[in-house]
Amino acid sequence: MNQKYAQLTGWGYYVPEKVLTNADLEKMVDTSDEWILQRTGIKERRLRTEHDTNTSMSVAAAQKALDVAGLTPKDLDFIICCTTTPDYLLPAAGSLVQGALGAECGAMQLSTACSGWVYGAVMADSLIRSGMYDTILVVGAEIISHGIDYTDRTTCVLFGDAAAATIFQASDKPSGIMASELGSDGAKAKSLWVPGGGTTKPISQQVVDERSHYIMMDGQEVFKFAARVVGESLQRVVKKAGLTMDDIDLFIPHQANARIIESAARMMGLPLEKFFINIHKYGNTSAASVPLALVEAIEEGRIQDGDTIAVAAFGGGLSWGSAVIQMGVKEKTAMYQMAAASAD
Ligand code: ACO
Repeated sequence: MNQKYAQLTGWGYYVPEKVLTNADLEKMVDTSDEWILQRTGIKERRLRTEHDTNTSMSVAAAQKALDVAGLTPKDLDFIICCTTTPDYLLPAAGSLVQGALGAECGAMQLSTACSGWVYGAVMADSLIRSGMYDTILVVGAEIISHGIDYTDRTTCVLFGDAAAATIFQASDKPSGIMASELGSDGAKAKSLWVPGGGTTKPISQQVVDERSHYIMMDGQEVFKFAARVVGESLQRVVKKAGLTMDDIDLFIPHQANARIIESAARMMGLPLEKFFINIHKYGNTSAASVPLALVEAIEEGRIQDGDTIAVAAFGGGLSWGSAVIQMGVKEKTAMYQMAAASAD
């Protein structure tokens, strides 16, 4: 039997129309455009409008990914929705997206904060390689603004809402995830968490008064963790794939802070140009961050057919995940057509 791979054949994203600029934030909290830009690299971020739900954003991104892959929802064998901000505590985001798409398959929600999509992609890859499924939709979507205290300047300037979707399909051509690493350091769980509103401290007037239903973060602790783990994990995963840094055409890091990306690039001895950065437009969109950057990199022509890329994410948990992905396309995909058109 031929070895099965899980080829990335579809991609798409959705961002809400509403833009929250640094100038807007200056009117809300004691901050400045200069501070935000220098310390984070963020200029603006998107916030959900009254029309946007986690499900509607996921479905909009998924429809685009299906179109690029030349598939319909009925072709899907499984759906993985990566999010920490689902529409409801029950049912899970996967079921809502499956229902809204009209797909006829199993669906689940995966919650690993900003590392979510990398975890989801690795799960999809394993399910396809095992022979269980052939076609899987992996979505990263967040209405992270829901969990942000817009009176807390240490967190509210960082985050934005978005959704991005990817399709993985069985292929006998070496492609898709060629090596991966998933990690967790639960000892640091409380350096990035939402203390209230769960089962330990259910929602109550006290929780609301304490504002403990919002994201609380030890920014410097997370920064130190991230600056170390992104570079180290990428180095390990590239080696695991049997490659060197020179073999990687583009690195797609989690977009949490431009200084974290710069620090990882320095640690790896690589020029910043090898890293895709779109944080200035969207801020940190949590589980949507890596796939959103991936889709934009493809659409901007920064990733070509046959390229080898490496992705890395980190977030609440504290968790992290990295992977080396071999881009390879089927004739029907947009990437193939773009490559064919430019070769004419
Ligand atoms: N505007 C102006 N001043 C601010 C702001 C702001 N928005 N936020 C903090 N400050 C102040 C602080 O109060 C502090 O003032 P002080 O010196 O008078 O006490 C000063 O700026 C410096 O604060 P630091 O925390 O040292 O600033 P730092 O350079 O570390 O930047 C930041 C803070 C941006 C939060 C950074 O630590 C960071 O990016 N950390 C990582 C965050 C991250 O990646 N989170 C991932 C989330 S992933 C997920 O799963 C959701």
